[in-house]
Amino acid sequence: MDATRQRFLMCRPTYFAVDYAINPWMDPSAPVDTDLAVRQWERLRQVYLDLGHTVEEIAPLPGLPDMVFAANGGTVIDGRAMAVQFRDPQRADEAPAYRAWFEGAGFEMYDPKHVNEGEGDVLLAGDHLLAGTGFRTAHASHAQLQEVFGYPVITMQLVDPRFYHLDTALSVLDERTVAYLPEAFSPGSQAVLRRLFPDAVHATMADAEVLGLNAVSDGRHVVLPEQATGLAAKLRDRGYETIGVDLSELRRAGGGPKCCTLRLRQGKASQ
Ligand code: ARG
Repeated sequence: MDATRQRFLMCRPTYFAVDYAINPWMDPSAPVDTDLAVRQWERLRQVYLDLGHTVEEIAPLPGLPDMVFAANGGTVIDGRAMAVQFRDPQRADEAPAYRAWFEGAGFEMYDPKHVNEGEGDVLLAGDHLLAGTGFRTAHASHAQLQEVFGYPVITMQLVDPRFYHLDTALSVLDERTVAYLPEAFSPGSQAVLRRLFPDAVHATMADAEVLGLNAVSDGRHVVLPEQATGLAAKLRDRGYETIGVDLSELRRAGGGPKCCTLRLRQGKASQ
């Protein structure tokens, strides 16, 4: 199995908090340890650097506690960046900050016409763009994604509010393989997943409940929450090297490793 070098965008959780609840994981009455969140995030960043990946950073902004979840900042494929439009007003101001970063980094920009929460709901799997809907990203945005990026878009209907973004229910392991929690999807979407990925790894609810599917793979190494021991064992059986990280403090906001990580894809040749 070959690892491909990746370029990631991350945002330090300097202003991380749980001040509002926009998913079932968030409890604003429970205290949050921001320093611990920063230490856990720094360890994730170091894991990527040790694997030989490049990590770019966007400056965190006060008053935007969820800005650490860089996956929601955009979708970046083949040198094109589609900006985002959040469902919830609490996160709205993150969108222009990420947009300005992409523009400054030289990506060709596209603006969303509908609610679109970036790589939280849009995952490139081989030659297909898997696009989630049901909670956040609007179905109407899937057509725009197809026009902008030129990959066939496959709509994935999410049905469990705990797995509100596609990247909490499905993880792309390499060009041909994904892991997912079947019951997080509608029956029709489950049938599509079986058709597209007959060899997929099926995760259990126990793994999904610790956000085990919110994993980042370079095709060989899979970085995932260390609490997802069952999923990690299944991945090792398939020949992947697993690296567990503890992001328990960020999980209080409903996020894991993948949520903290946006893949920046240049043109095809240098992917
Ligand atoms: N609190 C954030 C929200 O509900 C968490 C986002 C997690 N990001 C992700 N890519 N799943 O929007």
